[in-house]
Amino acid sequence: MKKSTIAVIISLAALALIGIIIIQVYWMRNALKLQEELFDNSVSVTMKSVVNRMFDERTTPGLEPFVCSPDCDHRTQQILSAINPIRLDSLMHEEFDGMEITRQYVWGVFDPSTRTFFAGERGNRTNKILTSGHRVSLSCLYKSEQLMLGVYFPNESDVLIWKIVPWMIVSLVFVLVVAFAFSFMIFSFMRQKKLSEIKSDFVNNMTHELKTPISTISLASEMLLNPINMVSEEKTRKYARMIFDENQRLQQQVDQVLQISVLEQGTFKLDLTNFNAHTIIDQCVTRFELAIKNTNGTIRFHPDAHDFQLNADVNHFQNIVCNLLDNAVKYSSGKADITVTTRNEDGMLVIGLVDKGIGISHDNQKMIFEKLYRVPTGNRHDVKGFGLGLYYVKTITEALNGKVKVRSELNKGSVFEVFLPLNVSVATYEG
Ligand SMILES: Nc1ncnc2c1ncn2[C@@H]1O[C@H](COP(=O)(O)OP(=O)(O)O)[C@@H](O)[C@H]1O
Ligand SMILES: [Mg+2]
Repeated sequence: MKKSTIAVIISLAALALIGIIIIQVYWMRNALKLQEELFDNSVSVTMKSVVNRMFDERTTPGLEPFVCSPDCDHRTQQILSAINPIRLDSLMHEEFDGMEITRQYVWGVFDPSTRTFFAGERGNRTNKILTSGHRVSLSCLYKSEQLMLGVYFPNESDVLIWKIVPWMIVSLVFVLVVAFAFSFMIFSFMRQKKLSEIKSDFVNNMTHELKTPISTISLASEMLLNPINMVSEEKTRKYARMIFDENQRLQQQVDQVLQISVLEQGTFKLDLTNFNAHTIIDQCVTRFELAIKNTNGTIRFHPDAHDFQLNADVNHFQNIVCNLLDNAVKYSSGKADITVTTRNEDGMLVIGLVDKGIGISHDNQKMIFEKLYRVPTGNRHDVKGFGLGLYYVKTITEALNGKVKVRSELNKGSVFEVFLPLNVSVATYEG
């Protein structure tokens, strides 16, 4: 799939997700509004039925008249004898209970035009009652003035919000789950894409690497088969050597790939023996010396470790050092300048390979130990390889209870350090 198509799909999905969140918020607000309206309606119905009952009871005989306190003025006295506040309070309790409105409330009887309070809760909440939206006219009980009964619920908005909070949490969790699943899918898709690119790179590389020795062998054997070329023994030897060398190269490449498949299956065996690490490193250095000298490069070996007798698998150890040296040579642009060192640290032998080559960027340093990974260099790699060397180094070093570290700076060079315990505790390792 093209990169632009993926970008479009991701943006569309992200937009859809944002859309869903906006719609959720919209519905939540609507639900809250609806709850408010429902509550307003039931309060209004309750208050009206309280006033109706007061109106009906006006003519009921035997009701005790309300006795106003001595400091009551004449007007208040008249109002309170028409609207008995004690009866009003008990009726409100009854009706609110009947409507199952259980939350806390305060009420008051007042004149809205002059904001004069006649009965009910006095104090700091009087103002709230005067401005409350829950109010009903008392004109049927007391005709001479425009009086109102007002109710105020102190925790009204809190209660309503708490009713929808659980829903909000649930939908938030769902949105988070969808967002997580979406990002996870994109992440694994990208990973798969990268992996398939790496694999096709590997196949191209491999085909190329195998083709060269095969065509050389075929050319050399054609020469040998041709009776005209059979004249000198020297020529015959030359062609036979070519076939032999190329065949060995093929063998090495096939071995490398096979070795990795064994590593992957985890069935490789470590054959632990006691050996001198410096001798083995020296052998690897000698192997690369000629090639480096041919390009006017230098290679030094500083065996500074005092304890260099290792108990490990000698073949794998040699492969580790040779692989790292091979990289140091391959990725030194032009003249190679390589230093191999050893030292002891915390009961370990540390083998260091310092090169002044092309270096590795910080991001790539995390990836180079992965199987088949090669630092991307645009469309083609000038330097041949399968991207298996460092994977091999890491897997074997870890099997020997050791570790590999890399420090590198682009265009300055790299330092690879292999830490190996002097004594591997297991006699034979099966990965
Ligand atoms: N010494 C080094 N200097 C710069 N880059 C390196 C060095 N060693 C390894 N690399 C980078 O790490 C990648 C992985 O290395 P490796 O697994 O040995 O694969 P290969 O050598 O087959 O490419 C290489 O392709 C290269 O880009
Ligand atoms: Mg390599």
